[in-house]
Amino acid sequence: MTDKKAHLTVDGLDAAIELPIYNSSTGPDVIDVTSITKNGFFTFDPGFMSTASCESKITFIDGDKGILLHRGYPIDQLADHSDYLETCYLLLNGELPNDTQKQEFTNAVKNHSAVDPSVAALIKTFKRDAHPMAILCSAVAALAAVYNEGLDITKEEDRKITAHRLIGQMPTLAAMVYKHSQGEEFIAPDSTLGYAENYLNMTFGKAGQAPKVSQVLAKAMDRIFILHADHEQNASTSTVRLSGSSGTNPFAAIAAGIATLWGPAHGGANEAVLKMLEEIGSVDNIDKFVAKAKDKNDPFRLMGFGHRVYKNFDPRAKVMKQTCDEVLAELGLENDPLLAIAKRLEKIALEDEYFIQKKLYPNVDFYSGIIMKAIGIPTEMFTVIFATGRAVGWYAHWDEMVSSAYKIGRPRQLYTGSVQRDYPSK
Ligand code: SDX
Repeated sequence: MTDKKAHLTVDGLDAAIELPIYNSSTGPDVIDVTSITKNGFFTFDPGFMSTASCESKITFIDGDKGILLHRGYPIDQLADHSDYLETCYLLLNGELPNDTQKQEFTNAVKNHSAVDPSVAALIKTFKRDAHPMAILCSAVAALAAVYNEGLDITKEEDRKITAHRLIGQMPTLAAMVYKHSQGEEFIAPDSTLGYAENYLNMTFGKAGQAPKVSQVLAKAMDRIFILHADHEQNASTSTVRLSGSSGTNPFAAIAAGIATLWGPAHGGANEAVLKMLEEIGSVDNIDKFVAKAKDKNDPFRLMGFGHRVYKNFDPRAKVMKQTCDEVLAELGLENDPLLAIAKRLEKIALEDEYFIQKKLYPNVDFYSGIIMKAIGIPTEMFTVIFATGRAVGWYAHWDEMVSSAYKIGRPRQLYTGSVQRDYPSK
């Protein structure tokens, strides 16, 4: 709280409504509008474009400057110097782990990476061509059936083991979903492997064969997980907070987040980017698609471009582009036609007045799909990878909420329907 106040004058009210202002540590301060209901008003902010739904210490984004900080550390520094499990520890605990803490956290996650047979059986009940996000959403909801009795979310220890189970099992579930789509046997987690290495082995390994995962691809996969780990109050994280605010099972709340992430306006954009690049097919066709994206009468949008918060480069897109170049060079795919289309499309869009005026830049999804395709991950699995990386962010926000005083979220509305009327007498 500060001594500063906002004074809202309203026609017809004798006195201005005085509203407290709270200071941020960086970024915009907030005006507490809770008291305006006493004067018979609600605020109106569809899409929450100007609404701070909560107080948080986890992630900070400056959209105008293209800044993304996790507990104060810039995303490019974490991508260069950290690894995914260390970043998970940081997001959950607020500080980087020392060597002992890192080893203990890594062991705890590894010890909880096996999936209950009931969930494995559930995955096998789906059609093999079912969308992987539908299966993942159901599988994580099923974890709420496995871990419910005796789970007390008011106890820190229960919340800690839940974090280990979620972070440990997401890659195992992601790999199982892929294996099911291929009609192949599931590969069990291997505690001798690193986190991303283990995911790639469970995905592309063969039953009974020793793991052989490229360290370059494992490093790229780990970086993709880091870049997707958290992003403040995005749609899926806000879903997890709102769902969790009722006190529901945390795995059920995470499953709700997965459902939200699936949409093409959100995490589904990485899959949509690849489909768009394949539809463009050649650099010769780019101008036609850019024109469609600019045409107000055409619903087509340049997938992987634009962001609700970033009105500058998404800092994750810069790291993703660098990783893309590294991986494709390592694989001898630097002449990949989709990469050529993506780079040309980015150049044209960034020089086009429409995109400049609307501040539309490449976002995290623009290059991630090209890397994942090069690694051998099918397009419809891209958002499953996004969810696997983002699970820790969803959990960190849920944990931050339930470990503090919180109320069930319950927005109000601008009602413009029929006023009260009587049922017609017969
Ligand atoms: C993610 O919130 C997060 O943090 C999300 C995320 C995370 O890590 O959790 O960062 C991950 O979801 C990234 C975004 C992935 N989505 C896409 O790439 C899909 C394509 N992008 C757009 O659909 C759009 O940019 C959104 C949804 C991302 C943001 O849309 P907004 O903020 O609601 O903006 P808007 O739709 O009101 O667009 C503003 C203007 C409009 O034109 P006008 O009506 O003002 O004339 O910009 C235009 C839009 O038509 N516009 C685009 C465009 N995005 C916006 N025009 C062409 N192509 C686009 N991609």
